Order: sequence, then C-alpha cells, then structure tokens
Amino acid sequence: MSRRYDVVLLGASGFTGALTAEYLRAHAPDGLRWAVAGRNKSKLEQFGQDMVYADVTDPVSMRALAESTKVVATTVGPYVEYGEPLVAACADAGTAYVDLTGEPEFLHRMYVRHHERATQTGARIIHACGFDSIPYDLGVQYTVEHLPRNVPIEVDGLLRAGGRPSGGTFHTAITALSRPRQNLEAHRDRYAAEPRPQDRSARPLVKKIHRQQGFWLVPLPTIDPQIVAYSGRLLDRYGPDFRYGHYAAMKHLPAVVGAVAGVGLLMGSAQIRPLRNVLLRLLKPGAGPSAERRARSWFNVRFVGRGGGRQVITEVAGRDPGYEETAKMLAESALCLALDELPETAGQTTTAAAMGPALRDRLVKAGITFATLSVDEY
Ligand SMILES: NC(=O)c1ccc[n+]([C@@H]2O[C@H](COP(=O)([O-])OP(=O)(O)OC[C@H]3O[C@@H](n4cnc5c(N)ncnc54)[C@H](OP(=O)(O)O)[C@@H]3O)[C@@H](O)[C@H]2O)c1
Repeated sequence: MSRRYDVVLLGASGFTGALTAEYLRAHAPDGLRWAVAGRNKSKLEQFGQDMVYADVTDPVSMRALAESTKVVATTVGPYVEYGEPLVAACADAGTAYVDLTGEPEFLHRMYVRHHERATQTGARIIHACGFDSIPYDLGVQYTVEHLPRNVPIEVDGLLRAGGRPSGGTFHTAITALSRPRQNLEAHRDRYAAEPRPQDRSARPLVKKIHRQQGFWLVPLPTIDPQIVAYSGRLLDRYGPDFRYGHYAAMKHLPAVVGAVAGVGLLMGSAQIRPLRNVLLRLLKPGAGPSAERRARSWFNVRFVGRGGGRQVITEVAGRDPGYEETAKMLAESALCLALDELPETAGQTTTAAAMGPALRDRLVKAGITFATLSVDEY
C-alpha cells in the first residue's frame, strides 16, 4: 500500500487527541510518517507535525484523509454524531481505522452500514481502542489463553477505578444515555445482520448484583461486554460456549446504592431536553482533568475465568484510565496496525481479533500490566 503517511491522528486539538499526539511524539519509532488532522490549523501547529485538513462535515476532506494514510486514529466524538463519515471513507479506501467510541449504538450502526464494504476493501475497522474496551478485550483474551481448549468458558471482569471524565467524554455519555430507543434499534439491526457461527456461541452474561471475591459486583451495561463477546465469536480459541460478565466491583453496600441511584438519575435527566442541556453545560468539551488529578487516577480489572475444570484469575492494571492510558492505548493500536506482523482480518473487528498478543506486548512495554494471579484445578 503506497500512502503518504503511516498514521494520521484526527482530533489532536481536543483533550484526549492532544495527549495521544504527545504520546506519539514521544514514542513513535524513528522514520514513522505521521501527521495530525483537524479543521483548525492554528490549533494543530503546536505539535510541529505535518497537518492534514479534515472536517467531518466535509466528505471530500474525509476521503482525502482516508486515502493519505495506512491508519487513521480519531478522537472526534460523540461518535454517533460525528463518527460515520470517517468510517465510511476508511471502509471505501481500505484504510485501517481506530477510535475511542464507547457508544454501542455507533458500533452496531457502523457494522450494519460499513462492515461489508470494509471486508471487500480489506479495511480493518476497530472501535473502542481506549479504556473502552482494550483492558477487557485483551484481558479476557489473556485469561482464555490460560484455560483448556474446546471447552465452555465463562469469564467475569471486575473493574475498580478512580478518575474524572473530560468534557468530551461527559457530552458523549449524556448523548448516549439520551438515545435508549435508537440504541435498542441499532442492536436489533446488528443482530439481524451479523452472521453467527453455526457450532459455537459467545455472548455477554448478565447477572444481578451479587458478591464475589469480597466485593459487591454491579453489572456494567457498557460497550465492553459486547466487544468481548464479538471477539469470542471471531476467535475459535474462546471455545464452543463462551460467556462474559462485566461488573463494577465495590467494597461497601452504601456506595453500590449511591452509584445505582446516581446512574438512574443521570439516565432520567438525559431523557428530558431542558435537564439534558443543564447537564451538558456542567463540563465543557475541550477540557479535562488536570495533570495532577490524572497522576492520582488508576484502574484495575480482575478476571475470573473458568472452564474445563480450571479456574484462572488474572489482572490488568494501569494508571489514569480515561486519558493517559487511553491515549497510550489508541496510539499503540495505531502503531501496531501500521507496523506489526498481524493476522489477516478485514471489516469491523476487535483489538483481540486483529492485534491480540502483538498489541498486548506493546502495552506491557508501555507500562500496563497483565498478570496471572492464580491457576487452580477444581
Ligand atoms: N472510551 C474511552 O475510553 C474514552 C476515553 C477518552 C475519551 N473518549 C471519547 O473520545 C472523544 C473525545 O473526547 P475529548 O474529551 O478528547 O473531546 P474534546 O476535547 O471535546 O475533543 C473533540 C475533538 O473533536 C474535534 N472536532 C469536533 N468537530 C469536528 C469536526 N466537524 N471536524 C473535525 N474535528 C472536529 C475537535 O476539534 P476542534 O478543536 O476544531 O473543535 C476536537 O479536536 C469523546 O467521544 C469521548 O467519549 C473515550
């Protein structure tokens, strides 16, 4: 593929995009041809890189961007509002695409509308390459590697984290919460469009709030279980019957009650336009937690996997999940697609199926830990 760039980053003028550009500047190997893209040249000059004009409302610029590079990484969200033109352009141009969406509606719509075209051109379309959903997608794959082959497998992911959202993340979350009907329709359309394996099944597992490993486990209805289950459908290694349960792990019951009530209140408010507008004014796009706040943020996901008479407990952990580690994960995903020897994949796929151990090795070198805590036969 003869392209001017290896990697182009769209959204570098935003909060997460700027951190991703800084990461690339510090860690891209010598000789990597990379550029920043956006609609406002003066905001991009600070990076001292080549600049590509790109406005998601201008289809000609989207096409030129997709044709200029092997890999595009984008931090322009809410993706359900701004994301599709670039996915469409990359699917047409056979360009690898990575983003930071955590919006299931967007994921499913893009599958229905662009998966087939991307499969024809060889484009790898990989959503959720940040804290949503890399720790879970690669963490579950790592856990499955420790379990016997060709047996039913069940994995629970137990998340603990501390951090603050950026304005962009907050706006995206409120937008997503305000669209339950569209989300459901997108899920239904995806279900009808995606061919399922004949002899295997891989699905999210939804349990009620319960206790395990000394924690209260609260089901998290995020994009992550859907990404992990899709990896399970794409990869035979996950066995004939794979289930993944995704939970927030909390120590104290009052915190559980507070969190459930808080999310309920946010969801209710997001449905009512005037309340939604008040919420959206609370945090402005473009801003996010300070470097000092980010330095105190952290995440830890414990995976409990069972299958074929074995139980394995693993852990993925790192620092500030939303921004420092997300910028690292997005940048390393783009570098991995541009530079590493990878399995042949095309169409909408996942980090586990398209990059798997190659991306995991990169993240480990970059300071994110993947550890095996115990392996027991039962
Ligand atoms: N899932 C995760 O793990 C995770 C973590 C972090 C962030 N995110 C997601 O990443 C997204 C970005 O968050 P953020 O806090 O970085 O947001 P932000 O600071 O508001 O940045 C948004 C970026 O989008 C650009 N943009 C807006 N409209 C555009 C257009 N028409 N054409 C081209 N560029 C346009 C902005 O450019 P201008 O400067 O020109 O306005 C800016 O660079 C959000 O959707 C958030 O949810 C996800």
